Amino acid sequence: MKIVVLCGGMSPERDVSLSTGAQVANALRRKGHLVALVDSALDIPGEPASLFTDKVSENSAHISDTAPDIDELLQRGEYFGKGVLEACRMADIVFTAMHGGAGEDGTLQAAFDLMGVRYTGSSAKGCALSMDKTVAKRLMAPVKGVMMPEGTTLLRGDFDGNELSYAKKVLELVGLPMVVKPACGGSSVGVSIVTEEDQLLPAMELALSYEPKAVAERYVKGREFSVGVLGGRALPVIEIIPKTGFYDYKNKYQSGCTVEICPADIPEEASERMKTAAVLVHEELGLAAYSRTDFIMTEAGECYALEANTLPGMTAMSLIPQEAAAVGIGFDELCQIIIEESMNKYDRTDS
Ligand SMILES: Nc1ncnc2c1ncn2[C@@H]1O[C@H](COP(=O)(O)OP(=O)(O)O)[C@@H](O)[C@H]1O
Ligand SMILES: [Mg+2]
Repeated sequence: MKIVVLCGGMSPERDVSLSTGAQVANALRRKGHLVALVDSALDIPGEPASLFTDKVSENSAHISDTAPDIDELLQRGEYFGKGVLEACRMADIVFTAMHGGAGEDGTLQAAFDLMGVRYTGSSAKGCALSMDKTVAKRLMAPVKGVMMPEGTTLLRGDFDGNELSYAKKVLELVGLPMVVKPACGGSSVGVSIVTEEDQLLPAMELALSYEPKAVAERYVKGREFSVGVLGGRALPVIEIIPKTGFYDYKNKYQSGCTVEICPADIPEEASERMKTAAVLVHEELGLAAYSRTDFIMTEAGECYALEANTLPGMTAMSLIPQEAAAVGIGFDELCQIIIEESMNKYDRTDS
């Protein structure tokens, strides 16, 4: 197949997306596909059609060695670089290797739907519902078997000018310890764990500096896990153990900072509960092909879902690839399955 692996973009997770994109592109090439690795934010020099040659070096050529100036790209006001959409239109399917922002929140997916471009992963609606943690929380609350930490929504409009009284209200509503995080962010960017009263105001300021909406929710003390869903079925549970602190940006991406164990060393019953919850989340949010839900399990064995990821990291060392490997699915095969599962959604007439 002719595949565009689309990565980069302008979100704070741009760098992570470039790693995902490069590794997925190589995997799909090894699977025999004609693959163009495309940074959504950069202009394609020359004819987009020339990206689809079978020479790997040429395919990769337009990802430049130097990082682009994101502010300059944002000022340009256009999401796509020159030729990017043309390249996507030429492909049989676009592998969406974007993380965060418009690439993951359903905007890109909606644009592709309108243009008739096929893409991997969930629909525009599924992405949009999952991306906003306040929306996902409301949707999940009534679903049997899936608990999410109690909390409240923070709005920049209410915060600005009333900082102290707003913080006091949040303190009364949620209580300490709590977690404050941007509503739609990812990769733990802007996430704070607040254990002391005087940490709350800076935490709210930080989260609301990324987005006009944030979440303040109960801090759940316990062990952290994640469960991928592939083709409607749960993969083995993975445990995440940061060597210090919580699972923040550095612990997520700097090698050696976090130990990951898959399958997690927990009772079968707890593992089944999280797997069932991950599939419920996937179904309830209307997700497709693959997704990954994050959990914390308390000492008493209660499992709280933190969020659902519609475009989880896809480097060989990311969580879903590790979970797939635990059931004998290698990285290349996993990328191929995602392509096939994603093509299936276009064959269905009920969606
Ligand atoms: N309610 C919570 N209780 C305990 N830890 C939390 C809570 N919410 C978030 N965290 C920590 O912050 C990390 C990032 O939060 P998460 O909701 O998964 O957002 P994202 O991964 O999209 O940035 C989690 O992996 C976890 O370590
Ligand atoms: Mg997460």
